[in-house]
Amino acid sequence: MAAAEEGQWVLMATGRSPTNIAVIKYWGKRDEALILPVNDSISVTLDPDHLSATTTVAVSPSFPSDRMWLNGKEISLSGGRFQSCLREIRKRAQDVEDEKKGIRIKKEDWGKLHVHIASYNNFPTAAGLASSAAGLACFVFTLGKLMNVKEDHGELSSIARQGSGSACRSIYGGFVKWCMGKNNDGSDSIAVQLADEAHWNDLVIIIAVVSSKQKETSSTSGMRDSVETSPLLQYRAQTVVPERVLKMEEAIKSRNFESFARIISLVEKWNQSEGTPRVAYTFDAGPNAVLIAPNRKNATILLQKLLYYFPPQDNDLSSYMVGDKSILSDAGLKSIEDVEALPAPAETKMPSQKFKGDVSYFICSRLGAGPKVDTDESLALIDSVTGLPKGV
Ligand code: ADE
Repeated sequence: MAAAEEGQWVLMATGRSPTNIAVIKYWGKRDEALILPVNDSISVTLDPDHLSATTTVAVSPSFPSDRMWLNGKEISLSGGRFQSCLREIRKRAQDVEDEKKGIRIKKEDWGKLHVHIASYNNFPTAAGLASSAAGLACFVFTLGKLMNVKEDHGELSSIARQGSGSACRSIYGGFVKWCMGKNNDGSDSIAVQLADEAHWNDLVIIIAVVSSKQKETSSTSGMRDSVETSPLLQYRAQTVVPERVLKMEEAIKSRNFESFARIISLVEKWNQSEGTPRVAYTFDAGPNAVLIAPNRKNATILLQKLLYYFPPQDNDLSSYMVGDKSILSDAGLKSIEDVEALPAPAETKMPSQKFKGDVSYFICSRLGAGPKVDTDESLALIDSVTGLPKGV
């Protein structure tokens, strides 16, 4: 590490990783330290333009310790989960050479170097929108790029899993399965891609963000309570999920929305009144509803129904829809007057009142790709001279 010992250089990599929403949920751990689940799970990866974490990892011989900033605020890296990911990636670090900058780092020298990490989520952190999935996947992926780690996506997913269980699924785009594995050391608890984002790209995903506040019960303690107290959890893991996973895999393979929707079976009444499912829904460990429509046409009808019942509190339509805003004009909703003129949904047994203010905002997204590295230094979150987050 001749250059590394002498110079005041900073070497960086920036990556972006998507979030994911499970359609067969991960709930319950069989090993808390290694984050090994009691069942397989399946997810859809969302478009990183709408929901993702961007992370810059910088290394310099001038850094006296590892440090991290999340959304501009310094956070502690001392937690076991960050430490596991750092240790596992450092173990696999390879020689790195940046000819332009005249920097050479030998693999045995990575242990002596410290990193600065800055991460930013383009959606509310801790709102039950799987920010830690995107965040830890990005952490592992970007560290791996900087340290020239050669391991494949399966191995990276197993490292990301040790940061946050569902992060292992954010290592891929499209449809992803986290195989629970059987080994005690977790070596076979990895994610695999079932189909890429192009396979079923008509799907439209609308998220009703009911609350952007921190969840009252963390997933970790909720899962622990379930494992310790619920006699049904074992039954779910051992009997219900294996069969559903097979059906879900088949539904994804054959793009069978009816089967896909029935399995994750707002919209019960609409689905019932039509006789065949028009929209599917799912919830993670938070109050936000994730609605999945098979195509744009159904998504626009869904949006008309949603906005009839949940008009924006402050009449500002544009900030009420985040992500792919063009769904609004596709649904004929260009102004608040258009929303006010929406007819009451015709299905029977619908509520007679509206629920203004109950939804904070909606996000419209689609299937997205897996993590990518950004080579453009201007996108880095860390200043290449000071080694500190830009703007801090
Ligand atoms: N937890 C939530 N968001 C995160 C991020 N972007 N990076 C690391 N941890 C996170």
